Amino acid sequence: MDAETGIIYINSNEMAWTGALAPNTGENSPRAIYMSQCSICHGENMTGSPPAMPSLIGVGGRLTPVQIATAIKNGKGRMPGFPNLTEDQSYAVINFLLSGESKELASAAPPPASMPYRFTGYHKFIDPEGYPGVAPPWGTLNAINLNTGEYLWKIPLGEYPELASKGQKNTGTENYGGPIVTAGGLLFIGATNFDKKFGVFDKSTGELLCEATLPFSGNATPATYEVNGRQFVVIAAGGGKDPKSHSGGIYVAFALPQESPNTTPIPGQKH
Ligand code: HEC
Repeated sequence: MDAETGIIYINSNEMAWTGALAPNTGENSPRAIYMSQCSICHGENMTGSPPAMPSLIGVGGRLTPVQIATAIKNGKGRMPGFPNLTEDQSYAVINFLLSGESKELASAAPPPASMPYRFTGYHKFIDPEGYPGVAPPWGTLNAINLNTGEYLWKIPLGEYPELASKGQKNTGTENYGGPIVTAGGLLFIGATNFDKKFGVFDKSTGELLCEATLPFSGNATPATYEVNGRQFVVIAAGGGKDPKSHSGGIYVAFALPQESPNTTPIPGQKH
């Protein structure tokens, strides 16, 4: 957001997702308890959606039953605790996680309270090759005048390197992390999930002025700072959203030229 001009610079994703509801059975079986209490995050088939929601497949090799019971009781990181589960129910779910066995519980405790329906999770609507199942652009960068609602410009943001090399360029891709704008008229953004690019755009036109390739995708918003009169832009490059690429953790800082290359006024200011 450029406070002086009232223009917001914002990247967006054009990705369709599906979601569905499934009935909770209200049974006291370990599987039914897993479905009503755990599957919303860890998935109906325990695959989770890493890295935010860990898969529970093979969790027995990483954690002891007591450690899992502690996580269920007290919560862990972003996972809430489940004090509503009795110890029997908790260990029955753990046994289900470790063995897949789901014998009806003999204990007198009633099944844990659950909503009539559960959400079965967010699923990306993708084609058989893994690309979004909708027409490109799949990600864009936009400049919108907040006083008029008018788009000043809109461009595709991001590429799939393997599609670009076959001539399918400028498709835009999923992107996470925002832009910053400078008083000198520049816009800096990484964000794209697959091409690892960090771009410098003319904020008045959306024209790409130069770009660099980061070691990992820059899924973060850059920051700018000054040292001894020299301006720098830094971005955290971590990746992690492209299953075909490695992830890491590196800050990359760029020094800006001493004279800002662009001081053209913004067309939107005339309105
Ligand atoms: C609201 C989302 C959510 C729900 C519901 C949830 N979990 Fe989790 N769970 C998480 C998150 C997030 C983590 C990662 C926690 C961390 O280490 O930061 C996690 C971690 C775990 C782990 C540790 C996995 C590992 O490899 O370290 C186990 C085991 C686990 N959950 C079991 C369960 C069980 C059993 C239930 C149902 C009783 C459940 N979870 C319900 C979000 C959830």
